[in-house]
Parts: sequence; C-alpha cells; structure tokens
Amino acid sequence: MNVLNKKTVEDIAVAGKKVLVRCDFNVPLDNGVITSDKRIVASLPTIEYLIKNDAKVILCSHLGRPKGEFKPEFSLAPVAARLSELLGKEVKMATDVVGESAQSLAKELQNGDVMLIENVRYHAEETKNDPEFSKKLADLAEIFVNDAFGSAHRAHSSTTGVADYIPAVCGYLIQKEIAFIGGALENPKRPLVAILGGAKVSDKIGVITNLIEKVDTLIIGGGMAYTFMKSLGHSIGTSLLEEDKVELAKEMMEKAKEKGVKFLIPVDNVVGKEYAPDTEAMTVPSDEIPDGWMGLDIGPKTRELFSEAIKGSGTVIWNGPMGVSEWEKFAPGTVAVATAVAESGAISIIGGGDSAAAVKKLGFADKMSHISTGGGASLEYLEGKELPGIVALSEKD
Ligand code: 3PG
Repeated sequence: MNVLNKKTVEDIAVAGKKVLVRCDFNVPLDNGVITSDKRIVASLPTIEYLIKNDAKVILCSHLGRPKGEFKPEFSLAPVAARLSELLGKEVKMATDVVGESAQSLAKELQNGDVMLIENVRYHAEETKNDPEFSKKLADLAEIFVNDAFGSAHRAHSSTTGVADYIPAVCGYLIQKEIAFIGGALENPKRPLVAILGGAKVSDKIGVITNLIEKVDTLIIGGGMAYTFMKSLGHSIGTSLLEEDKVELAKEMMEKAKEKGVKFLIPVDNVVGKEYAPDTEAMTVPSDEIPDGWMGLDIGPKTRELFSEAIKGSGTVIWNGPMGVSEWEKFAPGTVAVATAVAESGAISIIGGGDSAAAVKKLGFADKMSHISTGGGASLEYLEGKELPGIVALSEKD
C-alpha cells in the first residue's frame, strides 16, 4: 500500500465546502479529564490546513466502545474543549451524531469554522458499516477527509462507508504514519532492525512473519521471549508460556536462519518469585531459570547484546516493552532499549500502545523519529495487511 497513490487534502478544492474529517480522538479519560492529548495534537495539521483554506470543518471520531448507546461518559465534549484551546478558536459541539443538532450546526458553519459531532459509536450502525448510516454521515458534508490512522484498520461507516458517497482523501497524519512505517517496510535505510516485545507471541505472529522477510535483525524480548526459549529446550520456570506456539517459535527461528536474518532472544533474565512489583528478584542465564521463578525483564548481558545490535542500525522499528516496564525493578531492559534506539541516530519508529507509552514515560519521546498514534492499526500495518480506511480513499489521477 502506497499512500502516495491516494489523494490528499491538498488534491481537492476545499474553500467554502463542508468537509467531514474522521479523526481518532479515542483518547484516555480519567473521570472526564483527558490524560493524554497526543492524538488530538496529532490531528492539528489537517484541521489547521482546512481552517486556513476556508473550509467548513466537521470533525468526527469514536471514543471507547459505547456499543450503540448514548452514554455520557463516552461523550467527545472534553475533546471539543481541548481542541478549542489548542486551535485558539471555538469548536462547536453537537449534542448528537447525525441528528438535528449536528445538521443545524453544520448548516450554520461559516468558512473556517470548526464543529465536532458526537461519538459515532453512539450508533450501532457505525461498527456495522451500515450503508444508510454512512450516507447520513456523508450528507453532513461535501468532502470526506480520513485522518484517523489509529482507526484505519476498522471498516466502519465513518472510516470507509462514507467514502462511497462523497469524494474521499487523506489528511496529513495518515500521510505521515504511512511515510514512516511504510517507508521502513518498503524502502528502509539498512540495516533494518525490528524489536518486538510484549506478553504474547500470538499477538505478534503476523508481525514476525511479515518482518522476517524484510529485516536484517529481529530482536525478541518481553513475555513472549520465553516461548522462544522453551522452543530451544530451556526450562523457563513459571514464565509466560504459550505452549501451542512453541513449535511455531522454533519454525520462525529456523526461517530467520534460512533467510540470513539475525534473530536475537534474551541470553539472561531478571526473574522474580511472584508477579509483583516488589517481589524478590535475581539475574540468571536463559538456560538456568529455576523452577518457581518467572522472567520479568531481560538481564544485563541481553541489554548489552540488544543495544549493540541497535547501535549500527539505519532504521529501527520497535513495538512492545522488554519486561514489566511499569514496575521499577523490571524496567531496566526497556530503558536500555529506549536509550539505544534514541542514541542510534537511526530512523526510529515506535509502534503505538504500550511501547509509545513507555517511551513517553521514560522521557525519550523527543528522541524518536516517529511515534505512531495507532495501536492495532500500526500492528496490522506491520503485519503487511491493507488498512480499509486507507484503501477506501480516492486514487490520485
Ligand atoms: C485504538 O485506540 O487503537 C483505536 O482508536 C481503535 O479503537 P478500537 O480498538 O475500539 O476500534
């Protein structure tokens, strides 16, 4: 998939036109207070472009999973308030999605005005990609701009369905995400190193399978590394294990060998007695994990091994922590990898979700070339899947 073949917001005349923009404003909330506005900030370039070019801007998004019900705790009102602050102008908030409030606010829009309709998932039809609901959304506007990279793996009314009724182009955030992630997958500066962590092999099978064909080095850490160790015949104590993936793990390592891909798994581990932040801990080699102990982070030798592999890279893709990084005792592995990536000078791409949060919390966000706003979407993209929200957009002439 090459986004350059898709029309962008610059390929269509927007002045005086009502433009429906799908954003991913699925932000974390704590009692109605936004705890990270990263996704809102990431949507600004497209919105500001449309304001500057005299469009009438109608924003839409989902927030959480209200499952077709108007539940106030899933209202996008806090997003409208934050956006108003960031844009320095009022973002008018509709009280419904495609009803009277949304329609009359849309009609009153002047050039350069911005409004936000309510959570599209207040209607069950949204996630069913119901054509009638898609048409109602489309009827609010004359042009559709998709800039919701984080939702581009969903074939819903507001991400794909609406494109059946009005001209559909992409915004700057989608372009940026595809340029970085797609660039790394299709035409990387080599060596290309991928670091995959997180709890489960099953979550990353598709990514590993796709990346083995593309990378020079594949590094595996986190909970899923223990299934790989098991496949080498090591005993792994009470560490996370996906028994039914042991054979597959072995096959993946063999495939890497055939392809000449360097495949690194931990050589030592910080193990704990229990799954708890203050549990008794010690460092042991990967083939000496005692019974009754569980691996909770990569060990110092592994930190060195992984850092060394990252050092000479041209491009790094990182998705998933190396251990239980939210607990201080088991954070050093993730910190070491973050430091190595930050200092590598490579083009560095951080997958959304946990690794993005870890990088931010550890203070490395500014050192990375790109931190994806997509969790599931970036994973599916790394798996080599087509993203329906991008496929649906008009091709360049
Ligand atoms: C996300 O946070 O990954 C996106 O906003 C998609 O949300 P969803 O998994 O509820 O579709």
